Amino acid sequence: MAVKKNAWLHTFLPNCFKIEETATMKRIIKEEKKENSIPRLSLTDFSNISNSTISTEDLSISLAGTNLHPFTVQELKVITHSFASCNFLGEGGFGPVHKGFIDDKLRPGLKTQPVAVKLLDLDGGQGHREWLTEVIFLGQLRHSNLVKLIGYCCEEEHRLLVYEYMPRGSLENQLFRRYSVSLPWSTRMKIAVGAAKGLAFLHEADKQVLFRDFKASNILLDSDYTPKLSDFGLAKDGPEGDKTHVSTRVLGTHGYAAPEYIMTGHLTTASDVYSFGVVLLELITGRKSVDKTRPSREKSLTDWARPQLKDPRKLRRIMDPRLEGMYSEAGAQKAAALAYQCLSHRPKARPTMRVVVDTLEPLKDFDESSNGIFVYNVPVKNDELEKQELKENKRAEELIMKKENGYHHQKHKLHQDNIHRIRTPRSPNVHPETSLGQSFTNVLKSPRHQRLKRA
Ligand SMILES: Nc1ncnc2c1ncn2[C@@H]1O[C@H](COP(=O)(O)OP(=O)(O)O)[C@@H](O)[C@H]1O
Ligand SMILES: [Mg+2]
Repeated sequence: MAVKKNAWLHTFLPNCFKIEETATMKRIIKEEKKENSIPRLSLTDFSNISNSTISTEDLSISLAGTNLHPFTVQELKVITHSFASCNFLGEGGFGPVHKGFIDDKLRPGLKTQPVAVKLLDLDGGQGHREWLTEVIFLGQLRHSNLVKLIGYCCEEEHRLLVYEYMPRGSLENQLFRRYSVSLPWSTRMKIAVGAAKGLAFLHEADKQVLFRDFKASNILLDSDYTPKLSDFGLAKDGPEGDKTHVSTRVLGTHGYAAPEYIMTGHLTTASDVYSFGVVLLELITGRKSVDKTRPSREKSLTDWARPQLKDPRKLRRIMDPRLEGMYSEAGAQKAAALAYQCLSHRPKARPTMRVVVDTLEPLKDFDESSNGIFVYNVPVKNDELEKQELKENKRAEELIMKKENGYHHQKHKLHQDNIHRIRTPRSPNVHPETSLGQSFTNVLKSPRHQRLKRA
């Protein structure tokens, strides 16, 4: 086993590990190459390599089998017209992203295409680590619902990433930008299914991957709204052997991170499923996971919406008004029931991503153009219908009131628990590495995207 690991590291990092090649090791390398079954490279295999010792040369040799192109800063300046503001696409937690254009003269084997170039703000060693994580994961994983990493740049202190250009930007922009056209229901379901497939692929890989930062801004959209996951900077290898979880620092985005992960630092596939549930809820309601402009009880989308997902009448009230009633009611109920499950506070009660894919797949076939299928709430009604509906509403409201009184205490207690968790980061129940109280304060203050980072 040790021999195999050394051989494998040697394959990837010849400049960093000057190991004598034995005949056995040579044979192993050859066999592994032949079968194309070289195990995926993990970040832990780079753990001894610091910021200063890794070079473009090391990386380009290490990642030789991945088709990633090493770029120079100068080349990326040419591609993006010196990072011109007219090419600015957006800015996340790690730095600005610019559009660029590669022509066929730049490099043999690299086709003419538009690209997105992300420039990393290196805050200490963390930025470099996240950049390296992205290169290692995205450089080796290929799937139609993962954004394609074309290349990278590692020159002196500069760290950049070059991706395929996604013409419709992020789901966050499409869903929440004030003047964007509302996404139709079928498109929302197409996005949900595709993103779920991306996550299922990661969870089902031979060497499992936990994405950890699933959110609307990390779902990029192709011209036909095919969704692709991006931002693998926080990705982790799944638990090995008989371990049930990975113990790690709490990093991610406020509003999307699973409650048990925030509390314990235990990361599992179920943490990603929870985050998926939040995005599904955003697609259903058209609301952001955290919206500080809303009244206090509506600021947290999950707290506000989850209790309303199982009741068709309540669901109708929280559906995105921009859909203007044009959705399949049965489909919406199925999607809402699925979101409810994904958002369960018991990780084991959440479905797997495969079940999520299978549940959502039929929902994307809704046809907005067919009059017979969609539900449209006509705003003007005749008197008699209105009276009848008022009566029904009153009766239903009374029933709901009775039911709600039954569990009001429970809900209140849960709310208190949340406050307690947030305000007592140093509680002995909390994983020592998860100083979330501080993170929350930072996050809420941060003008940038709300990443939870350890202070
Ligand atoms: N490959 C890409 N194609 C087109 N636009 C992109 C691409 N990558 C990123 N963007 C845009 O740049 C923005 C910032 O991206 P990113 O740095 O990943 O930050 P975040 O995910 O935190 O928003 C995204 O929200 C998106 O609008
Ligand atoms: Mg992103």
